[in-house]
Amino acid sequence: MSNIQCDSLFPQKVWRTDLDLNCSSIKQYVINLEKKDQTGSNRSNVNGWQSKSLDPGQVDNKDINKMLESIIHKVNTCASTNNMPELKISNYWFNINRKGGMNASHTHPRSVLSGAFYINSNEKDGEIIFERGDNAQCYLPDGLNNGNFYTSVTYVYPPKINRLYIFGSWMTHWVRPNTTNSDRISLSFNTHVA
Ligand SMILES: [Fe+2]
Repeated sequence: MSNIQCDSLFPQKVWRTDLDLNCSSIKQYVINLEKKDQTGSNRSNVNGWQSKSLDPGQVDNKDINKMLESIIHKVNTCASTNNMPELKISNYWFNINRKGGMNASHTHPRSVLSGAFYINSNEKDGEIIFERGDNAQCYLPDGLNNGNFYTSVTYVYPPKINRLYIFGSWMTHWVRPNTTNSDRISLSFNTHVA
């Protein structure tokens, strides 16, 4: 009799790492950007502000460009260790969620890997939440409280300052409301094959 073989099909990965960037300077840049363009854009924000989409190389600011360089370096470490081709940032945008601000459930179409980088937050609420995407929550038994790779239906990460999350652009995610008086400022980005 043979042993039971098992394959983990299509696993979802979320990479995380902490950068060592000057977030207070980046924060000031974003606050000034908002002052110059209060309308901004509306992708997923609810009661918050999002900048217009920016192209890499568009901004002449050393802290912003250092941030983009650090991020794409990490993205390509993730890509190469998973047999993916080299990637480039296609576009990025900033998010400011003040008290009550959140981001509705969304994915990042026309991208390979996407990510979020936290510039300012109180680190205690406004977590980013990933959903399974396979509707297993409709099939798994109720009352499972020993979440693991097979039984979890969501996964929650804190908005830690200088923390970078990288994930497949197809992965559904959303952001809990900011319940504090501290501005939550983050960067979101998309990538394409270099
Ligand atoms: Fe997103």
